Formats: sequence, C-alpha cells, structure tokens
Amino acid sequence: MRLSKLAGLLGIILLAACATEYPQSSIAPTSDFADRIQTLYVQIFIWTMGILAVVWAVLAYILIRFRERPDSPEPEQIHGHTGLEIAWTIVPALIVVAITVPTIQAVFDTQTPPENAMVVDVIGHQYWWEFRYPQEEGGIITANELRLPVDQPIALRIWSTDVIHSFWVPQLGGKRDANPLRQVPEGEELRYNWIYLTPQETGEFMGQCAEFCGESHSLMGMRVVVETRAEFDSWLDDWRTGHSEVVTQQAALREVPDASADRFSDEEQVAAIGQDAAAAQTSPQQALINEGREIFSGAAGCIVCHAITGNAAANGRVGPDLTLIGRRSRIAAGWLENTPENLARWITDPASVKPGALMPGVDYAAGRPVWPATNLTPEQVRAVAAYLTSLR
Ligand code: CUA
Repeated sequence: MRLSKLAGLLGIILLAACATEYPQSSIAPTSDFADRIQTLYVQIFIWTMGILAVVWAVLAYILIRFRERPDSPEPEQIHGHTGLEIAWTIVPALIVVAITVPTIQAVFDTQTPPENAMVVDVIGHQYWWEFRYPQEEGGIITANELRLPVDQPIALRIWSTDVIHSFWVPQLGGKRDANPLRQVPEGEELRYNWIYLTPQETGEFMGQCAEFCGESHSLMGMRVVVETRAEFDSWLDDWRTGHSEVVTQQAALREVPDASADRFSDEEQVAAIGQDAAAAQTSPQQALINEGREIFSGAAGCIVCHAITGNAAANGRVGPDLTLIGRRSRIAAGWLENTPENLARWITDPASVKPGALMPGVDYAAGRPVWPATNLTPEQVRAVAAYLTSLR
C-alpha cells in the first residue's frame, strides 16, 4: 500500500516535469544575468547531490554492517572521537567556502555596468510599473510592458515613487528592490538600484512585484517583450510620431471638419498621414473612436492623469502613459487581456480589478487627491475603450 502511494507521488513529480508552461520560472534563463545565476545554481545542486550520495552510501553501509543480530555482543562504548569531531567541523567549513567563492564572484561580475548599456528607468507605483528610456529621443515612456532589443546590454535603473516595490522578471534574472527616492544628486547614481543584463532570446517574459506594497501587490504584474533590433526601433519610431493618434485625428478631421479644423492643423501630423489618409474614411467604428477621443480628452477627465503622444490635450503624468496602448497584450498591470471588453470593464470599475487603484470609476471617486467619478454612460465607456484600442 505504501509502495503504491510512493509510486503515485513519483508519477506526479514526473508528470510535473513534462509540463512546459512556466511563465515565471526562475530556472529557464533568457539573459546573461539569469544564466550566470542558473550556472551557479546547477553547480551547487550537483555538489549537494554528490554529498547526498556519500552520506547515503555511508549510512547504508553502517545500517547493514552494524545491524542488530540475535547473538551480537554489546557494541564498544565510546565518548568523543577527536578525529571525527575535527572532520565534521572542517568538511562543512570547506563546503561553505566552496559555495561562497563562486557566489561572490558572480555577485561582483553581475554588478559591473556593461559597456554601451542602454539605460531604462524602472519606476514602481502602487500598483503598476513605469518604464522610461532616458537615452532615446522623444521622452519614450511606457507602462507595464517593457520592450527591450535582444542582445543589447541593458542597465535597469530602479526606484519607486511611493513605497518599496521589487522588480522581478524571473527568466531575466533575480529580483531587486525599487526604493522610494525623491531626488538623487548628480554623480550619486549608485543610490538607485541597478540590474545589468543582456537579453539573449526574443519572446515575452512575465514579471511580478516581489515586495509587499499594499492590497493589490499580488496584482502588480508586468511583461517584458524582447524583440529584434528592427522591431524595437520601429516601435520607438511609431511612439515618437504618435502614429496611431495621428490616424485618429485625421479621421476626426474628416468627421467634423468645420468644428475642429483649427484644432488639428498641425502640418507635420497631416503630412505624416500621407497617401494612407483615404483609407481612414469614417466608418461606424471610426465614429465611435472619434467620440471616444472627445470624451477621453474632455468630459471624462482622463487627460488629467494620462498622456498620449500626438494627443496634445493628454499630457497627465500621474497614471500610465497610454501611447500605443492598443499594442500592449495586457492591461491593468498585466492582469487583464487587452480587449475592448476588458478595457471597458477597467474604465467602468477599476477597483473590481485592482483594489486600491488610484483611478476613479464611473460611479465612485478614487485617488490621492481624490478624483471625482467619471459619470460615463456604458456607451461612452465603450467609445473610450474603442479609442484606446485604436492606439496601435
Ligand atoms: Cu508593488 Cu508589491
């Protein structure tokens, strides 16, 4: 009976080993930093398995060789054995040294800033992540979805605007605290916490806040998209030009030319549309998007907290930047799939998704300072969701 239970347990362990989906596995490294830690981990694991084998072999020998027999005499009684005492003090000390030396080497190796690193600011907020690219022109900012080019050395500069959070994307490397820092004097950059890494594989990697920071701590997720240099550069370009927003503006122009002619007179943006303008004829969907844009930029007050490149009215900095939000795969700090339905749910009642979120709902106020309820009707919410979805 016991044997069959044991066999069942072993079966479960084996089955678990066959599964492939571990979005937050810390033993599937995809960066040099994570790989370094993994190598150390495997090394130490092998040593401990060696020690385990030796201990079990000695134990098995003793159990068999000195087992109780009907006619066995009283064993020799000893107290203290100097040789043994010295051995079991020195051997563990040597094992600790053997673990310490490569560990400290790895700590120092991974703390050295790489040459030509691209700096990305990682800023923790209750309960979402902001990412800025200070070396890129155009003030590139995104939220909850960090885009990185593959094979590019990255220096993540980490801090927080409120309480302590912790940045952790297991497949990219170990976690690091985001400490609240108001002002860091010039030349004292090391007061930030840093992670240096080079992503080695393209793909999407899930991350999670790893320091308890409030009621929605467990919902403070993020996603890292590692892409090719060309994909990354084209994302930067689209971001800088406010690509999707320009299309929406043009459509709005077409919709009500008289009322908004002078509001959308930016020649650069008009030029950016080029020959594709004809494609943006006003369809019912486009009318909904245009309506959503009006509500977003006016009545709902969204622009107080949110910025969208290309939408001159929207330049709030309290909440996540929503430029190209339509391209993100998830919303609400990675908690909901990015669909118009989920956007509508989020706009209607953010607290039902993320308790403690600073965003007001359609019928309740929230935030610090308190922002009033938006009082949007379900149709208006649908329009705003359509507008946001169009930003891609
Ligand atoms: Cu932020 Cu936990």
